[in-house]
Amino acid sequence: MAQPETDVFARLERFYDAVPRDATVTEDIGEFVLFVRQGPGWPYYARPRLGADTPSAADITAVRRRQRDLGAPEAFEWVHETTPDLLAVARSAGLEVLLAPLMVLERAALVPDLPLPNATIRFLDPSSSRFATDLMATRAVGQLGFGAPANAAVPVGVRAAEPAGPRERDSLPPLSPELVEEQRSRYASGRFTGAVVESPTEGVLASGLTQRVGDVAEIAGVATLPSARRRGYASQLTASLARHALQNGVDLVFLSAGDDDVARLYSKVGFRRIGTACIAEPAPSEI
Ligand SMILES: CC(C)(COP(=O)(O)OP(=O)(O)OC[C@H]1O[C@@H](n2cnc3c(N)ncnc32)[C@H](O)[C@@H]1OP(=O)(O)O)[C@@H](O)C(=O)NCCC(=O)NCCS
Repeated sequence: MAQPETDVFARLERFYDAVPRDATVTEDIGEFVLFVRQGPGWPYYARPRLGADTPSAADITAVRRRQRDLGAPEAFEWVHETTPDLLAVARSAGLEVLLAPLMVLERAALVPDLPLPNATIRFLDPSSSRFATDLMATRAVGQLGFGAPANAAVPVGVRAAEPAGPRERDSLPPLSPELVEEQRSRYASGRFTGAVVESPTEGVLASGLTQRVGDVAEIAGVATLPSARRRGYASQLTASLARHALQNGVDLVFLSAGDDDVARLYSKVGFRRIGTACIAEPAPSEI
């Protein structure tokens, strides 16, 4: 039976609060909790504390000051349905807010595994000697993929650049050994599960991962090299990550889509929009 949406939002809130904690220390600032990363890796954001009131503009200013002091990005995230009044507060405090479709998997609607053209899906194994190479390839694919959104407009009169492919992927700088080891332990603990779409001749063409806390998992970082798009790679990779999570005891799989076009792709895989994830940073005029 489908769970009531309110229960899903409460579970998502607990997930978002838990997920950064094994790599951060927290600071309570007003109604926010700021996650401060310890060690290598991508810095985290501030979000409303569990059960807190709506943060104020003064709370936002205080968090931004602290983030600047720490050299961390001035980043905020929350779920609109859980903290609805924060959107107006954030905008009035000078933040630009991305409204990302928040989607949950409808288990019965999950598409079956289908063969991919010239490629197969492989899960990353943290105990394998290939792990560091795989991690580098997935990071490079993510960087090139997110650097070239699917619907990026090319100005009239400008010839579209050749889409980035395996050559560009292989020319990005390597990851630090500290980061590789930090990631290896997070994969080994089951917190992260990564998968790639791999071609026998061109290597890793698409990548994505699941982060899991208890029986909730978020699919994130799904990206396809610009040279390998529209072959079904991201759709099938997302379906495989979701199926793998379900087969390993997860019963709520969710994601936030970058925009409505990407949300359409995920809805074809079996996800349904339930709300909006807000991702905020200072508007360009505020930096
Ligand atoms: C969004 C993104 C991951 C999609 O990757 P992709 O591998 O091209 O995705 P798919 O091939 O599975 O699907 C893309 C489209 O191609 C279509 N398609 C799938 N197989 C196809 C085929 N063999 N021939 C033609 N079209 C095909 C899909 O139906 C889908 O169409 P739609 O956009 O109208 O829904 C990719 O554009 C990307 O990396 N973007 C930047 C990063 C990003 O936004 N990631 C999502 C984060 S939430």
